[in-house]
Amino acid sequence: MLQNQNVLPAGITSDARISYHAKQLSMQLQLLSSRLFPPSSQKELKTFTSGEAAQLVGVSDGYLRQLSIDGKGPAPVVSQTGRRSYTLAQIHELRQHMASIKPKDALAYLPWRRRGEKLQTIAVANFKGGSAKTTTSIYLAQYLALQGYRVLAVDLDPQASLSSMLGVQPEFDLSEGDTLYGAIRYDDKRRPLKDIIRKTYFAGLDLVPGNLELMEFEHETPMALIERRSAQGEVFFKRAGVALAEVEADYDVVVIDCPPQLGYLTLGAVCAATSLLITVHPQMVDVASMSQFLLMTADLLAVVRKAGGDLTHDFIRYVITRHEPHDGPQAQIVGLLRSLFSDEVLAATVLKSTAIADAGLTKQTLYEIERGQVRRSTFDRAIESLDAVNGEILDGIKRAWGRA
Ligand SMILES: Nc1ncnc2c1ncn2[C@@H]1O[C@H](COP(=O)(O)OP(=O)(O)OP(=O)(O)O)[C@@H](O)[C@H]1O
Ligand SMILES: [Mg+2]
Repeated sequence: MLQNQNVLPAGITSDARISYHAKQLSMQLQLLSSRLFPPSSQKELKTFTSGEAAQLVGVSDGYLRQLSIDGKGPAPVVSQTGRRSYTLAQIHELRQHMASIKPKDALAYLPWRRRGEKLQTIAVANFKGGSAKTTTSIYLAQYLALQGYRVLAVDLDPQASLSSMLGVQPEFDLSEGDTLYGAIRYDDKRRPLKDIIRKTYFAGLDLVPGNLELMEFEHETPMALIERRSAQGEVFFKRAGVALAEVEADYDVVVIDCPPQLGYLTLGAVCAATSLLITVHPQMVDVASMSQFLLMTADLLAVVRKAGGDLTHDFIRYVITRHEPHDGPQAQIVGLLRSLFSDEVLAATVLKSTAIADAGLTKQTLYEIERGQVRRSTFDRAIESLDAVNGEILDGIKRAWGRA
């Protein structure tokens, strides 16, 4: 399908040539991606085998079979060969069912936060581009939803890769005010966050999508500060938190995917957050810029704190991503980070994996694809590392809730 593009006349200037290359490339990439993921196709989540469903709910497969024979709980789809499969929504129903018949173990089946356990808001940040913030955010959000939590993912990046992973195409599917900007803008077009949140195909995971309009917040905030327009509403770093507080009762965890800048949006996310995850690609260049990031962050946060921002967090963790354990230089850097920050670096790391990168190309995660789609050993290794990282983060959340 790709056409030969070496057809430009010899005397053409280099800017014209490069601009031509850029346009050609962008066009072909768009073609490629629309073939992989046509704009009209609604994303749909796979169904889960009864074995997978049983494992997620925390009962045996035999118990699930008996439930379905007895006609209790949601009715699975039964194939001609007698295999039962459940949608994720049905798995959530099974959790409700189990919690209602075994009230003593309700928390094990339905882990929603209880009275006194505050909403956990986790901001995933680093101003280093490509440090796997979006990948970390989506895998965490989906993992928590699979475990039965009510999750809200917030795409704070104008590039909106999280939104497109979650089936919302930022350039086609959104109108004005359909991003978090709609709920934090300074003028009277501000809308309730409830009206902006959308359900996704991933049951239990809702989304506040992002797109380029988020940049407006970066442009308008300096003016709002000068004009003290914020006197009519909250100052910039409190606005995201105030918006999230409106929908607090509907969720257990909010995951915010931050843009790769330390702008007003990111500062707002850090103030709204109860915990922070800082993604680290363990390479010399990236870690060198990370120390700059930490310094700048600390300085800016100190200013925000003195102006009244809430900068207490339940936990701050560094997440090592795209980790290649057999790479010597990487091992040194990981060792260095662990010796400096000890427990604040998650013990588990996200391995660099072609399965993760490839799944990303088709806007899917490994939690979404059928097991057979990727070579089994590659798939298992990657999933194992992701589950371990997400499990550690969930432990942190539970500790913040005061659970054992
Ligand atoms: N564990 C991994 N193994 C292999 N590839 C990965 C892994 N994690 C992320 N990637 C790939 O690295 C690239 C950057 O990841 P991602 O988009 O998550 O980073 P980001 O920090 O959100 O980037 P940005 O700063 O542009 O928002 C993507 O192509 C992604 O598929
Ligand atoms: Mg990103």
